[in-house]
Amino acid sequence: MPVPIIRSRNELRAIVAGWKAAGETVGVVPTMGALHAGHLSLVRAAKAGSDRVVVTLFVNPRQFNNPADLAAYPRTEASDAEKLGPLAVDVLYVPDGDQIYPEGFSTTVSVAGVSEGLCGTHRPGHFDGVATVVTKLLLQTGADRAYFGEKDWQQLQVVRRLVTDLDIPCEIVGCPTVRESDALALSSRNLRLSEAERAAAPALPQALDVAARAIVAGTPVAVALDDARAAIVAAGFRSVEYLELRRDADMAPTESAEAPARLLVAAWLGDIRLIDNLPLPAVERARQAG
Ligand code: PAJ
Repeated sequence: MPVPIIRSRNELRAIVAGWKAAGETVGVVPTMGALHAGHLSLVRAAKAGSDRVVVTLFVNPRQFNNPADLAAYPRTEASDAEKLGPLAVDVLYVPDGDQIYPEGFSTTVSVAGVSEGLCGTHRPGHFDGVATVVTKLLLQTGADRAYFGEKDWQQLQVVRRLVTDLDIPCEIVGCPTVRESDALALSSRNLRLSEAERAAAPALPQALDVAARAIVAGTPVAVALDDARAAIVAAGFRSVEYLELRRDADMAPTESAEAPARLLVAAWLGDIRLIDNLPLPAVERARQAG
């Protein structure tokens, strides 16, 4: 069954109102399209947790701080719709631009604290763009639950914060990062890597894994991070934009392996910016098990 595509927010609202009147719960998976197995894992989680599932596809210009990146973003609506058919998604919402940003649109949702540092420092305005569009998508769909990937860990924290702060009655569900067999996190940007870059790319998750194990084994955080940066560059990355250990509870930087914490990285491979993150406790469990 092909997935029905809806482009108007009023039409979407009418459909969702019908579901809710029948007592059904609604899950939403916000995306920018170019769907891969990472996105599809969120869709499966949504199907398992809600009676009805809406996937949204909107390449949000306000979250791109680089016009070339926006222009290069893949737009593959037809093949995205095909991938969603077998998963029995109820609606693919592909809003026309004016359904999200009508003329005169003047409001920005800006989340302090968790938006600062990491990607917030290096992509000015990015999280304002994300927070604004996610707020709109949650309100337009009226979903009871929304599914986001841990791949974009900082984004997930921004979304959790805004939903709490703005009293949006939607439960945010974080889903684990889906990886290739060589540990590279799935990303639409991977398609733009050359063969040599693709071969070098797994050095990023590998460096996180080595650093996480070293920190848990007692290596000082600064030393482990320096070694990881050197390994990433030695593998062929152009530069490491950031590599930090942050506490899960509040995203504050930490030098300690005691509380749940996670390594977060952004690095440039040629012209492609890759991000990834890895929790310390999972490594600790793996070490004890193995
Ligand atoms: P996009 O990059 O299309 O990602 C959509 C969702 O898929 C996000 O929640 C992201 O974390 C998740 N995702 C991406 N790669 C993943 C992987 N390898 N494993 C698990 N989940 C993965 O993130 C956005 O779009 C936008 O910022 C959006 C939230 C839609 C707002 O415009």
